[in-house]
Amino acid sequence: MPTKIEKDSVTGHMTTGHEWDGLKELNQPLPKWWIYILFATIAFSAVYFVLYPSIPYFTGYYHGTLGYSQRDTVDKDVAAVVKQRSGYMDRIRTLSFADIEKDPQLNAVALTAGRITFANNCQPCHGAGGGGSPGYPALAAGNWLWGGKLADIQQTITFGIRSGLDDARQSLMPKFGAEGGLKPAEIEQVADYVMTLYGQTKGDTAAGQKIFADNCASCHGDHGEGKREFGAPRLAGKAHLYGDTREIVVAQITNPRMGVMPNWNTRFDTGMIKSLALYVHSLGGGE
Ligand code: HEC
Ligand code: HEC
Repeated sequence: MPTKIEKDSVTGHMTTGHEWDGLKELNQPLPKWWIYILFATIAFSAVYFVLYPSIPYFTGYYHGTLGYSQRDTVDKDVAAVVKQRSGYMDRIRTLSFADIEKDPQLNAVALTAGRITFANNCQPCHGAGGGGSPGYPALAAGNWLWGGKLADIQQTITFGIRSGLDDARQSLMPKFGAEGGLKPAEIEQVADYVMTLYGQTKGDTAAGQKIFADNCASCHGDHGEGKREFGAPRLAGKAHLYGDTREIVVAQITNPRMGVMPNWNTRFDTGMIKSLALYVHSLGGGE
């Protein structure tokens, strides 16, 4: 109910003349500074609306007179990073390993690229950090099948092992059991001998030793030390590709599994393969 405008005796303010159930509204206008800021923000937004992208249409939007676009800014940033990176990758591709390692920044870029690519592509088979698992060699242990120099590793990654490419690393351990090269009893004997090489069987293994010298030493070495030109694992040691039990050794002699490692030259360019080689080499077994 409108009542008459009067001075409130408690606060000393005028009333507005509005009253509800005996409560009178005091007339306290907004402070001037508040009003000015309000108008300033309205004016600012009007200018902003004109200068910058603001009003959405059904398709597209009003671009603003400055032509500013966050997407363009991001695209430019991304393009700059790609350019910088491709600069690094070009240098990794063309420089020798020795020159890459001499440049700490370039080396760090290669190791990072190698680590990420390894985690995404190699880890499923070779394990985190190249720890390996049965059939998938540990890359960090220094117990190389084919070689642990940077160039060896690059070659292995590029063409693979028994991947079907002409340049792949090849070698086939004969199927001594499956193709009848050795009788089952002879396989037992030579397995006995192989297990003495890492201290798991003792006793007279002369017969097995003879079979080994005749059939196996050409690839695995006279004392089971392994030969890299055939990718033939060292047998005289604690680390094993497939395992150290009699069952596994007999199975391998009977019908070798011949692990396959894919070639990566169709997936990655030389710069990335060299980055992978540097990373693998850095895991602890590099030569
Ligand atoms: C599908 C499984 C698989 C994947 C994926 C794989 N590897 Fe292999 N890799 C193997 C197998 C199996 C061998 C051993 C083959 C043999 O018995 O000689 C091997 C061997 C190697 C060797 C030789 C080791 C030595 O002792 O000489 C290197 C180096 C290697 N891999 C690196 C890589 C890298 C780097 C990647 C990722 C780009 C990768 N591998 C991805 C299965 C794989
Ligand atoms: C032509 C070369 C060649 C000859 C000959 C050969 N091997 Fe092999 N051997 C290999 C290769 C290559 C591998 C690993 C490849 C694979 O199977 O993935 C291997 C793997 C093995 C392994 C598995 C080692 C591990 O760490 O798990 C055993 C055991 C073995 N050979 C025993 C023998 C015995 C015993 C003979 C003789 C009766 C023999 N090999 C003859 C090439 C040869």
